[in-house]
Amino acid sequence: MKILMVCLGNICRSPLAEGILQHKANKNNLNIEVDSAGTAAYHAGNLPDERSIEVANKYGIDLTNQRARQFGITDFQEFDVIYVMDAKNYNNILKLASTREDEQKVKLILNEIEPNSNSSVPDPYYGGKDGFENVYQMLDIASDKIISQLI
Ligand code: 4NP
Repeated sequence: MKILMVCLGNICRSPLAEGILQHKANKNNLNIEVDSAGTAAYHAGNLPDERSIEVANKYGIDLTNQRARQFGITDFQEFDVIYVMDAKNYNNILKLASTREDEQKVKLILNEIEPNSNSSVPDPYYGGKDGFENVYQMLDIASDKIISQLI
C-alpha cells in the first residue's frame, strides 16, 4: 500500500503527515510506504521547514530524510491513496486527474476524523510555533484513524 500526502509547498504540513503516518505504520508492522509532495515547486529539493522538523522531533519523529518535490501526474499511478491537506490542494490535484479512478484516490485528510466535514489543515507557514503544534495534533489524530482502518 502506498500513500501520498500533499500540501502546497511540501515543507510544512505534508512532511509532518508523511513522518507521522510512516512512524505509526512501522510501529504496527504494516507494509505501508508513505511519501509527500507539493502542488507548487518553489521549495523543491529543500528540507522540511525547521519548525516542522522541530515539532516532529519533540514526538520522536525524524523528518530530515525528506526533501520537497512537486506532485506529478505519474503519482496517480504510483499511489493508492492521495491525502490532501486543504480544499485548494484538493482542487489543484483534481484538475490533474484524468480518470474517475484517479479522482477517487484524492481525499481530504481531515475527513478521516470527521467524514464529509471537508475541513482543512491550516497552513502554518506564516504563523508561529503554536500553528505547527496544532497541525501536528490534527495529523496525529487523522493518522491514528487511518492506521485503525488498515489494521
Ligand atoms: P505547506 O506550507 O504547504 O504546508 O508546505 C507552505 C509552505 C510554503 C509556502 C506556503 C505554504 N510558501 O508560500 O512559500
